[in-house]
Amino acid sequence: MNVRSLGYVVIESTEPQKWLDYGTQVLGLMVAPGMPDDAVYLKMDERPFRFAVVQGASDRLQICGWELQDEADFQTARVQLEAAGVDYIAGTEAECQARRVRELLRLQDPAGNTLELYHGADLDYLKFVSPVGIPSFETGFNGDMGFGHTVLPAPNLDETHAFYRDVLGFGDSDSMHFKFSDDPADPGLGLKFMHVNNPRHHSLALYQGESPVGCIHLMVEVKSVDEVGYCLDRVLARDIPVTSTLGRHTNDRMLSFYMLTPAGFPMEFGCEGLQIDWANFKPTKSALPSIWGHKFAAP
Ligand SMILES: [Fe+2]
Repeated sequence: MNVRSLGYVVIESTEPQKWLDYGTQVLGLMVAPGMPDDAVYLKMDERPFRFAVVQGASDRLQICGWELQDEADFQTARVQLEAAGVDYIAGTEAECQARRVRELLRLQDPAGNTLELYHGADLDYLKFVSPVGIPSFETGFNGDMGFGHTVLPAPNLDETHAFYRDVLGFGDSDSMHFKFSDDPADPGLGLKFMHVNNPRHHSLALYQGESPVGCIHLMVEVKSVDEVGYCLDRVLARDIPVTSTLGRHTNDRMLSFYMLTPAGFPMEFGCEGLQIDWANFKPTKSALPSIWGHKFAAP
């Protein structure tokens, strides 16, 4: 299966208006022009939207949308899911229209996270005009690198990791293992970082733990340290909780900080993430998440 990028997310919100304010005034995304008003659609590049925030009974990450290369790959994906015995449902015409894609399949990974595999996404080329003056986000040529990355809960880490690797064809980038005490019997928790077919170091990470809001964090990337600093100023001016201080990650060298979103999961806002030539890459095993900084607030 040839997954190219993390194209969009659907977020369920009890108050989508909060996401409208947060998305435009803090993240610096724009309201997506020409999209229906049944949800808050936020745009960051040539793609019609990257975040769809739908009204619902809870606040949580609902769906991650993964882009396939083309129709042939979409048919291959369907065959491979069936061969692996994975249940899926095909998106209706109305659903595909709402996502601005040709076709989609919806399924769950072994940890219960919902995802969509799609092809034929529109490029609307409408000019991205950030309400807070961000010149552009790092999403590659025509948005081919996707909007950023997602870190999903996967208590059954090995099974979920094998699903993304063996069924969906994701590649390993890095793995980490954390112990939260000095007790030698503490089994600790694992974290698997995976890439798809674009240079972003990881588009997905799987965390061996639960999340009541369906997500450990999302990440968006800007193109300069100053834009990270300006965002941190906006966050502090609005008293939005900073869930991790500024720091530089080990595995993708991302310079970033983390803040709380209206959904209750954090957003990583960073720059300078590594872009990798996968032909010459060997997966790594990292002992530390950050070279410096990233002091996480106590939950
Ligand atoms: Fe991250």
